[in-house]
Amino acid sequence: MSLLEIKDLTVRFGGVVAVNRFSTNIEQGIVHSLIGPNGAGKTTVFNAITRVVRPDQGNIIFDGHNLNGLRPFQVISHGISRTFQNLEIFKLMTVGENMLVGHHREFKTRVMNETLRTKNVKEQETAAWTRVLEVAEMLEIKNRLNTYAGMLPYGLQKRVELARALMCEPKLMLIDEPAAGLNTTETIELKKLIHMFTRKLGITVLLVEHDMSLVMDISDEITVMNFGHKIAEGTAKEIKNDPKVIEAYLGESKYA
Ligand SMILES: Nc1ncnc2c1ncn2[C@@H]1O[C@H](COP(=O)(O)OP(=O)(O)OP(=O)(O)O)[C@@H](O)[C@H]1O
Ligand SMILES: [Mg+2]
Repeated sequence: MSLLEIKDLTVRFGGVVAVNRFSTNIEQGIVHSLIGPNGAGKTTVFNAITRVVRPDQGNIIFDGHNLNGLRPFQVISHGISRTFQNLEIFKLMTVGENMLVGHHREFKTRVMNETLRTKNVKEQETAAWTRVLEVAEMLEIKNRLNTYAGMLPYGLQKRVELARALMCEPKLMLIDEPAAGLNTTETIELKKLIHMFTRKLGITVLLVEHDMSLVMDISDEITVMNFGHKIAEGTAKEIKNDPKVIEAYLGESKYA
């Protein structure tokens, strides 16, 4: 069953057609990668799914719900979380505080409750911290919870962003270039984490990545974009041997 259906999506920025009548289906429980040259439209697809940009045309259906018309925070409450191409964590907050930001889906308090710090608020805070500890344990960052995120090495900062995206127990995670800037050991660790997300936690992963050995290794399905269009779709084996993909992208990538 498709968890996410993107139908005929078009996004324009002035004269630039960043995404051009793009359609694909993301099946539940798999790692589906979106690849293509710089400027192909991959991040714009993520931005359209999370409603950060408003599509000019097309529909995005997630778990039976049309996302058109939703605000970004409502997309999160439907079960979609993301990480960003340019790491977006709060460097002057601790790791634990960064993670709490990702938990806001669960907070259902009123201003008055907050002011009076009712039992309800305290219970929710306890639940949030329980989740922080659970996710930190899984991602092996429990001993860093009180460290300012900006003090961590870059690889760990990226891990904090993944941790934050896990906090709301998403059904779908959109992960934009998680391997960028990581060394070989960190990339191997990343691969294990993504496997855990899908296999252990049952999360569907939509991955944008330029590290082709990671993509080919980890993906159940790959969609290739070029100039906003979908030019190919299939398994790693099919994609690797597709002349259109070799010409548009693989020929110039690290994988060649
Ligand atoms: N907010 C924006 N305003 C104007 N143009 C934009 C905006 N966002 C993206 N674009 C343009 O849309 C096109 C697609 O950009 P996008 O960031 O989606 O590419 P990408 O496939 O993610 O590339 P990369 O691999 O370099 O991250 C590019 O031409 C880009 O310059
Ligand atoms: Mg991008």
